[in-house]
Amino acid sequence: MNANSDRVLAMPAIWLRDNCQCVQCRDPHNHQKLFKITDLPEHVSVGDISSTGDGYVITFLPDGHRSEFSNRWLASYHSTDDLGRSEHAKSLWRVGDLEPGAHHADWSTYNDNSAVRLGILRGIAKIGFAVLHNVPVEDRAVLSVAKSFGFVRETNYGELFEVRVEANPSNLAFTGASISPHTDNPYRDPVPTMQLLHCIANDVDGGDSGLVDGFEAAATLRDENPRAFELLASTPVTFAWSDAVTQLSAHRPMIELDPLGKIRGVRFNNRSLQTLRMKSDRLGEYYDAYRHFARILERSELMYEFRLDAGDCMIFDNTRILHARTAFEESSGGKRHLQGCYADLDGLGSTIALLERLVTSSQ
Ligand code: OGA
Ligand code: ZN
Ligand code: ZN
Repeated sequence: MNANSDRVLAMPAIWLRDNCQCVQCRDPHNHQKLFKITDLPEHVSVGDISSTGDGYVITFLPDGHRSEFSNRWLASYHSTDDLGRSEHAKSLWRVGDLEPGAHHADWSTYNDNSAVRLGILRGIAKIGFAVLHNVPVEDRAVLSVAKSFGFVRETNYGELFEVRVEANPSNLAFTGASISPHTDNPYRDPVPTMQLLHCIANDVDGGDSGLVDGFEAAATLRDENPRAFELLASTPVTFAWSDAVTQLSAHRPMIELDPLGKIRGVRFNNRSLQTLRMKSDRLGEYYDAYRHFARILERSELMYEFRLDAGDCMIFDNTRILHARTAFEESSGGKRHLQGCYADLDGLGSTIALLERLVTSSQ
């Protein structure tokens, strides 16, 4: 036995029995499990282990069930590919950490070259964003970008939404005002986990874009003020949005932790945050924590600033990356117009896994 199979074969008998790969235990076509945990004997133990050359056969007691574990399965169990959502699966960044030009690609190269596409998509999973250039300046092209790696999340705004100056704006995004770092649609549960913004025109003074790594900002808050971090992670607040035909609200903390206490999501939007409802002796402390986090999000060393020109499309993880824009003013000759849509990280993860199969098999 090598060290790896040693380690796996030393796992508790119930774990091994639960992972039996035989045709009684797994459907041979879809590999789905055919039994329930309650179908297994409560006091299962390993009766015998023998080597087959290609792997091992284990006979379990008390029922005598035989399971074969191939060396390949034993090795794959320890594969460390990690597309997890928590901070330990990510590369947290400040502006100085970003390599110039990395995480940017031309739309046609992205489409034609699967290694480039894989690099860009892995970048979105790792650092949280990418920018594609020379996407056709066409109505609805943003949907093709979303469909290149996943599925469009339709909402009450439709498949896509227009970001341009409107006469009676339902959202401050549809004015020329500056917008501070925020995540979109925190009033949904679940939130759209990905967002795209495609620039159709940006012939104005101002209207520059900014992105901030919310995980880095939350980790900074944890270093500088652990109590503030804990408050933001443990106190649900309400975000809401409504118009004549829609009324949405969600009640969640601004910083979401995984079961191990690691940062897993950020939900931050000063425009849609509702009146805070908590005990009055907690409010002062909460406001201090909220302000501290907001100030970190405004630090220039955290904000990656760039300009979206016609044809540029940014794609980002809306559970992690906050986006912002500077104020602008339209003139007779100069308009600003973006089209946006939402998608989800599960589709991104699937596309990355499939591209990895393709790229590995062609090497
Ligand atoms: C938005 C938004 C930023 C921009 O529409 O969600 O934040 O650059 N827009 O206009
Ligand atoms: Zn079996
Ligand atoms: Zn936004």
